[in-house]
Amino acid sequence: MKALLLAGGTGTRLRPFSYSMPKQLIPIANRPVLEHVLDNIRALGVVDIGVVVGDHGPEIADALGDGSRFGLRLTYLHQTAPLGLAHAVLVAGDFLGDDDFVMYLGDNMLPQGVTAALEAFLTARPAVQTIVHKVPDPSAFGVAEIDAGGRVTRLVEKPAAPRSDLALIGVYFFTPAIHEAIAAITPSARGELEITDAIQWLVERGSDVRAHEYTGYWKDTGRVEDVLACNRELLEGLRRSVLGHVDDASRLIGAVVLEAGARVVRSRIEGPAVIGAGSLIEDSSIGAHTSVGRNCRISGTRLDCSIALDGATVTGVRGLYGSVIGRGAVVGVAEDEPRGHRLVVGDHTHVEVAA
Ligand code: TTP
Repeated sequence: MKALLLAGGTGTRLRPFSYSMPKQLIPIANRPVLEHVLDNIRALGVVDIGVVVGDHGPEIADALGDGSRFGLRLTYLHQTAPLGLAHAVLVAGDFLGDDDFVMYLGDNMLPQGVTAALEAFLTARPAVQTIVHKVPDPSAFGVAEIDAGGRVTRLVEKPAAPRSDLALIGVYFFTPAIHEAIAAITPSARGELEITDAIQWLVERGSDVRAHEYTGYWKDTGRVEDVLACNRELLEGLRRSVLGHVDDASRLIGAVVLEAGARVVRSRIEGPAVIGAGSLIEDSSIGAHTSVGRNCRISGTRLDCSIALDGATVTGVRGLYGSVIGRGAVVGVAEDEPRGHRLVVGDHTHVEVAA
């Protein structure tokens, strides 16, 4: 069995970060989403992975290399434009050959893993096995209608009146039957070759299409709120590890990870929280569910429930929460403070200030 990891796309919903980095490299608990995904694929015993990439391909290749660091073999496959999930399978045709494969969306987090779904696929070996997850708002998703035996009877994209609360989520197990279906479908109204159309094509021809329910935590990290929520969830599993330096005037409370070379000076850090290698926290208070990347400087600041990416600097800001601060970004106090706030804000950036 092979894996097809989808790491192209445009990431419109994750602007402004997706302008300068592929959204699949956004850190969750200080590790890029793609590293969490590779952990899950490796747990399936699958080693050969085709990684579909778009314009951000070189950065993804820089971050993951040939995969040997993870005990995996990665082959990069360039998709000229994000023309749909089924189009990505088309691009990977030569790589996949006649093998079964697991298709994994590179922005989906399933921390409890998908090994149970693989076992179900190997046992029944249907033409396709989707993974579904109960959601409170099925009309926002592709929804699977399923009979008593677990067979999919219909897939409906964003139904107005959903007949099931089981949404399709970002992992699929395919036999080569999917290739014939993809060759038969045409682009949807939004101009994409949809994988749901290909699967529905198989359902309509009587193929065995099944759904396995994943009951663990699931998040599509497509939006900033989702990235923050997922970060909170993953930090909950953190174990305390202090490799950096903490001065006598500082306190670390609970599950705090302080990576090697990080320094904490006259500060308080409440876990779960992670501080990356080479970062300096001084005269600050870091609240629970916060991740600070590598080589950041947080000074005279209170930062809660937030993510600072590598190289960020925050100085003199008391009361930051639910924030994501980009790589090398600088947040501080205006030199001419009484005049008010001074912002240099990039395209599609989101700023909320206390009145
Ligand atoms: P989406 O999140 O559906 O699409 P997107 O990346 O374009 O995001 P947005 O809606 O915010 O603009 O894609 C799911 C995953 O599949 C994601 O990791 C990107 C990847 N993908 C491809 O590799 N090729 C494609 O043609 C598409 C549509 C997505």
